[in-house]
Amino acid sequence: MPGAGTVREMAQEHDSSGAATVSRVAEAEIGPDLRQQVQALLQACFPGYPSRSYFKLPPHFRYLAMTGGELAAQMGVELRVIRVGSTVVRTFGVVDLCVMKSARSHGLARRLLAELTEFARVCGMDFVILFADDDRVYTRNGWAHAANPCTWMKIHDHTTMGLARAADTGSLMVKAVGPQAWPQGEVDLLGHLF
Ligand SMILES: CC(C)(COP(=O)(O)OP(=O)(O)OC[C@H]1O[C@@H](n2cnc3c(N)ncnc32)[C@H](O)[C@@H]1OP(=O)(O)O)[C@@H](O)C(=O)NCCC(=O)NCCS
Repeated sequence: MPGAGTVREMAQEHDSSGAATVSRVAEAEIGPDLRQQVQALLQACFPGYPSRSYFKLPPHFRYLAMTGGELAAQMGVELRVIRVGSTVVRTFGVVDLCVMKSARSHGLARRLLAELTEFARVCGMDFVILFADDDRVYTRNGWAHAANPCTWMKIHDHTTMGLARAADTGSLMVKAVGPQAWPQGEVDLLGHLF
């Protein structure tokens, strides 16, 4: 892993995603070179992505998959306490999961999602949540749609625009990693939508 900031380098697994080396890295410790690689991957994978390594705000940490010295995949993760109805839950939020074109369909996204699920269990999180327009890779890996209306802080280009209140995003997906069932009621994201 180039640059400082590798929190933990996972065992190199020879699964169907090949010999990618997956690391979990604290966002604050990602140096300029690696940050540039992350930005390039995000811009290649998401048309219209802004000229930076995050969409609204930087995530708290990322999973990075390297193959042959090249960044092949990335997944940002938010550590977010949210409120669902009257229940406060601890969540990890998946942000901007992407795999470079030439490495797709070999289980790399599945591997990153599995690593995060295991880490969430270790950390005693309640849920791993995300917002997805295309649910395929997530339904395959244990996420389910949740129809709760959501409130969040709207941000555009580093400017707070106000609040979106009780909106049906149509894209919220949740996976329980503890014993608790996903609660009913409005979701207050206590921050921006990721
Ligand atoms: C979605 C994505 C991360 C999957 O990565 P991957 O390593 O190929 O995933 P896996 O090999 O574990 O699983 C592949 C499955 O993901 C699903 N998938 C494909 N494109 C997808 C997409 N844009 N969104 C969600 N799921 C997708 C398909 O079911 C695919 O199965 P197939 O290979 O039989 O067609 C990758 O296609 C990608 O980076 N797409 C562009 C960015 C993007 O849309 N990210 C999702 C943001 S919500």
